[in-house]
Amino acid sequence: MSVTLFKRYRMSFDLTRKLPAVKPLLASYVLLPWREELLRAHAETKYKSFCDEMDTNIFSCLGRRDGCHRLMADIAGRSGFVPEATWLLVHHTAHGTIESCGTIQAVQTDERSASIQNIGIIPGHRGRGLGAALIVKSLEGMQRLGLRQGTLEVTAHNLGAIRLYRRLGFVTQRIVYKSTEIAL
Ligand SMILES: CC(C)(COP(=O)(O)OP(=O)(O)OC[C@H]1O[C@@H](n2cnc3c(N)ncnc32)[C@H](O)[C@@H]1OP(=O)(O)O)[C@@H](O)C(=O)NCCC(=O)NCCS
Repeated sequence: MSVTLFKRYRMSFDLTRKLPAVKPLLASYVLLPWREELLRAHAETKYKSFCDEMDTNIFSCLGRRDGCHRLMADIAGRSGFVPEATWLLVHHTAHGTIESCGTIQAVQTDERSASIQNIGIIPGHRGRGLGAALIVKSLEGMQRLGLRQGTLEVTAHNLGAIRLYRRLGFVTQRIVYKSTEIAL
């Protein structure tokens, strides 16, 4: 076994300030608030968003359907789970079908803060402002609960995501290292 350390940034957003303005969603996209029956759709969207991404090297469960399902069930079952900051994004296609294409979830970490767990937009829908819209929706849910800080962690080489978080007003709080064992 070899141990690899991955550098990650812990970033935070000050919820006492005004939320950033984001482009309104196109009419074909709808945000669904959390309900238990959507667990499977969140898990599937998480899988499709992460399965080809670098974060699967650190969190192997993100690269497997069953792993994403277990992770989503675990998040939704935690005592600090924040349903108000957990959203599923669905797309109404031109053929009359509905596909889920984005997911975000949050967990309260102390009496004033909540942490975004996984934000994912499936590949064909990226670059349309949907990730930004999901993050702001999640922060809005935290704000409504009176929380003062929203946090997240991002791998240092996920440059697109970091750029997006900074643009929205997140600042780096500290650097953390996540160790992963890789079989030789
Ligand atoms: C990070 C992520 C959620 C962003 O979602 P998104 O819907 O593409 O977000 P937005 O459209 O609001 O903004 C995305 C940024 O990527 C750029 N972008 C454009 N086209 C893109 C594409 N096809 N794919 C990815 N990013 C793209 C956008 O221009 C924007 O950055 P910039 O304006 O500063 O250059 C999405 O890329 C994703 O799910 N990645 C895989 C999972 C992941 O890494 N999640 C974050 C873990 S911390």
